[in-house]
Amino acid sequence: ENPPTQFVDNDLKPVGHGRMLRKEDARFIRGKGRFIDDIQLPGMLHLAILRAPIAHGRIVSVDVTLAEAHPKVKLVGTGAMLAEHGLAWMPTLANDVQPVLATDKIHFQWQEVAFVVADDRYAAQDALELIDVEYEQLPVVVNARTALEASAPVIRDDLAGKTDNRCFDWETGDKQATDAVFARAEVVVGQEMVYPRVHPAPLETCGAVANYDPIDGDLTLWSTTQAPHAHRTLYSMVAGLPEHKIRVISPDIGGGFGNKVPIYPGYLCTIVASMLTGAPVKWTEDRFENLTSTAFARDYVMHGEIAATKAGRILAIRTNVLADHGAFNGVAAPTKYPAGFFGVFTGSYDIQAAHCAMTAVYTNKAPGGVAYSCSFRVAEAVYLIERLVDCLADQLGMDPVELRLLNLLKPDQFPYTSMTGWIYDSGDYESTLREALKIADYAGLRREQAEKRASGELMGIGVSVFTEAVGAGPRKDMDILGLGMADGAQLCLYPTGTAVLRVSCQSQGQGHETTFAQIVAEEIGIPPADIKVVHGDTDLSPFGMGTYGSRSTPVSGAAAVLVARKVRDKAHLFAATMLEVTVADLEWRKGSFHVIGDPAKSLTIQQIAKWAYGTGQLPDGVEGGLEAHIHYHPENLTYPNGAYICVVDVDPGTAVVTVRRFIAVDDCGTRINPMIIEGQVHRGLTDGVGMALMEMITFDEDGNCLAASLMDYLLPTALEVPDWETGFTVTPSPHHPIGAKGIGECATVGSPPAIVNAVVDALKPYGLRHADMPLTPSRLWEAMNGNAQPP
Ligand code: CDP
Repeated sequence: ENPPTQFVDNDLKPVGHGRMLRKEDARFIRGKGRFIDDIQLPGMLHLAILRAPIAHGRIVSVDVTLAEAHPKVKLVGTGAMLAEHGLAWMPTLANDVQPVLATDKIHFQWQEVAFVVADDRYAAQDALELIDVEYEQLPVVVNARTALEASAPVIRDDLAGKTDNRCFDWETGDKQATDAVFARAEVVVGQEMVYPRVHPAPLETCGAVANYDPIDGDLTLWSTTQAPHAHRTLYSMVAGLPEHKIRVISPDIGGGFGNKVPIYPGYLCTIVASMLTGAPVKWTEDRFENLTSTAFARDYVMHGEIAATKAGRILAIRTNVLADHGAFNGVAAPTKYPAGFFGVFTGSYDIQAAHCAMTAVYTNKAPGGVAYSCSFRVAEAVYLIERLVDCLADQLGMDPVELRLLNLLKPDQFPYTSMTGWIYDSGDYESTLREALKIADYAGLRREQAEKRASGELMGIGVSVFTEAVGAGPRKDMDILGLGMADGAQLCLYPTGTAVLRVSCQSQGQGHETTFAQIVAEEIGIPPADIKVVHGDTDLSPFGMGTYGSRSTPVSGAAAVLVARKVRDKAHLFAATMLEVTVADLEWRKGSFHVIGDPAKSLTIQQIAKWAYGTGQLPDGVEGGLEAHIHYHPENLTYPNGAYICVVDVDPGTAVVTVRRFIAVDDCGTRINPMIIEGQVHRGLTDGVGMALMEMITFDEDGNCLAASLMDYLLPTALEVPDWETGFTVTPSPHHPIGAKGIGECATVGSPPAIVNAVVDALKPYGLRHADMPLTPSRLWEAMNGNAQPP
C-alpha cells in the first residue's frame, strides 16, 4: 500500500491558501542557500577583469608581460587573444553586438579590457595591476539630448556605415488621428519628464563558475542567469559548442530584477578561461563592477501631452521619447518591440487616440535598458500616463481621483483593444480604486491635508491607477533572437504517489518551489509537500525562456496547470481500467476518482500512480507510467492592475520627504499564494521609494560614473519605508487556465508615480506641477525655492 498521505492545513485547497510558508525558506534562513560564490570545485582557478577607466577612447597598446610572469597567474586574456578564437564580440539579446573584451576601442567607463586567471582571487586582482594599457582618449557623449548633434563623435564606428549615434527610431499608434483629436481638444496639457537611469542592484552580484571537460567536450556553467535555456542556446551560437554539451545551472540566485537577463562578458571570459586552462574557473563580480558595467534600466526623456474636455474626459495622449541605450543596445525585449511594452502608455483609460514617437541613441555609458522589475518598459509607460493625468487634474482644478474615475475603462469593455493595439484581457479598475480609497479613507486624508495646509504643513496625497502587461508572450508576436517565448513543464508522479515538476522558469527569490507545487497540488490533489519543483538546470528541466517581466506565473504557471491536467487525464484512463468502468462513469474530486452513484468505489491519485508503474493490463494505446510534458505558448499577455495611494509629508525646512502611508490594492487575478504576493508587493513598493526618492546613476561630463557604490547609489531600507497597507481585488484572466496574472513587478511599476504625485501634491502651495525623480531634498529644495510663493 502507498504510505497514507498526511494532509495539513488547507492542503486540499492549495491555491489561495493564505499562510502556506515557503519551502525554500528552510534552507535560506539557515544560511544553506547555494549561490554562485558557494560553488567550490577541486582545482578551481579564479578570474578577475581589468576595466577601462575612461569612457571613450582607442586602445593604443596592451602589455600583459608582467601579469603573465606573476607566479600565481595561469592565464591572461585580452581582446586580441579572443579575436584569434573569433570570440572578441558577442551578440546582445537585442540583435546588437558588444565586445567581450575590447579590441581597439573603449565605449564606456569600466568596459572589460582583459582578464587574469590565477590560483586565487587575490592574486588575480593583484595581477590586473601589472597589465599596462595605453589609451588615446576620444570626446565623450554622456547626454542623450546632444547625442545626435552633428558635432557628436560617432560611438559605434564598428557598425558599417554608421555616421551618427542613432540606435533606432520607433513609432506606435496613429499620429494623424491623434493630432486631429488634439487640434480640436478644449484642454491640452504637456509635460517633459525624465525617468532617470537606475540600476536593478540585486544583492547578489553577477558571477559564474565554468567547468569544461576537455575529454568529452562537456561544459558546465553555473551562472547568475534568469534565463538558463536561452543562455545555453546563445553560448552554443557564440562559442560554437554543441548545445547538448552545454549545461547551464542557475542555482539559488540572490535577486535578478532584470539585471541577470543579459549575457555579460564576464560569463564568456569564464568559459574561455576554463576551456584554455582545462580547470574550473570562478568569476564573481564585486559591487562596483555590478553597478558600473551591468545592465541599467530606464533612462528615458519623455515629453508627454494629454488632450481632454473641460469636464475632464481624456481624449488622447501623445509622446515623444528620447531613449538612452548606452554604448550597446543591451535591452532584452522581444524582437518586434525595441521599446519593450512601452506601447501600453495609454494606461487604464478609455481614450480615442494615441501616438508615440521614440528615438533611441547610443551614448558612452554602460549598455542595458533592461526591464528592471517591470515588463519591458511598462514602468516608464505607467509613469508617463500617471504623471500626465495628475498634470491634467491640476490644470482642470479637479481631484485626481475624480478625474481617474471619470476615465477608467469599465469592466464590460474587456477584452479591450488599446489605441496602440494591446488587448487587455480583463479588469475592474473602478472596484480596485474604490477598495484603495476605502482603506486609505481618502476623504479623511483630504480633510487632514486641508487642515495641515492651513497651518503651513506640507502633506501630499498621490494616486496611481496602473495596468501592466506581463507574461511574454504569444508566439505570433514575441521572440528573443528567433526563440519563441514559450515555457516547458514536465510532471512525473512516482509509484508512491509523490511528484516532481520540472519547469523552465527560474526563481531568483520569488518562491517558485512553493507556488508551483501549490498549482500542481490543486490540479492533482496531492499535498504541496509531496511535490518537488526542479528548475534552473538545463539538463534537468525542459526548454523555456526564463523568468523576467513577471512571466513565470502567466506562462510557466499555465504550463504547470496544463501538464498536471494531462497527468490527471491519464490517471482518469487508468482509473477506469482499474475499476472496470468507463471514463464517463468517473468523477474527479480533488485527489481521487469516484464511480458516479457508487460511493464505495473510488481510487486516490496515489493508488493510480502505483498501478501505473505496476503489472496490470494497460488500456489500449496507452503507455504505462504517470507523467506528461508540455511546451506552452500563451495566447495573450495577462494585464494585472492596481490602485495605489501614497501619503507623504515634506519638511518645509529641509525638503526631506517622508512616505507616511502607502496603500496598495493589486489585482493579479487568481492568487496562488497570498503571502508570497504580499512579499512581492512589499519589495516592489520599496523599489518605488528608491526610484522616486533616492536612486540615480549619474555621470560627469567625462563619462565617469558617479554612482559606483552603495554609498552613492542609495537603496531604501526599512528606515525609509512605511508599514505597507495592502489589499486586493480578483479579476481572473480569461485565457490563463486558472485565471492567474503576474504580480512580481506591479508594485515597482505602480508606486513611483504615486509617490511623485504625492510629493507634487504636497508642494502645490509652491506652484509646483512636476519635479523629476529622484526627489532628493536638494532637488526639491531648489524646486521649492525656484517656484511661486511659499505658503
Ligand atoms: O516571473 P516572476 O516569478 O518574477 O513573477 P510572477 O509570475 O508574478 O510571480 C511572483 C511570485 O508570486 C511567484 O512565486 C508566483 O507564483 C506568485 N504569484 C501568486 O502567488 N499568484 C499570482 N497570481 C501571481 C504570482
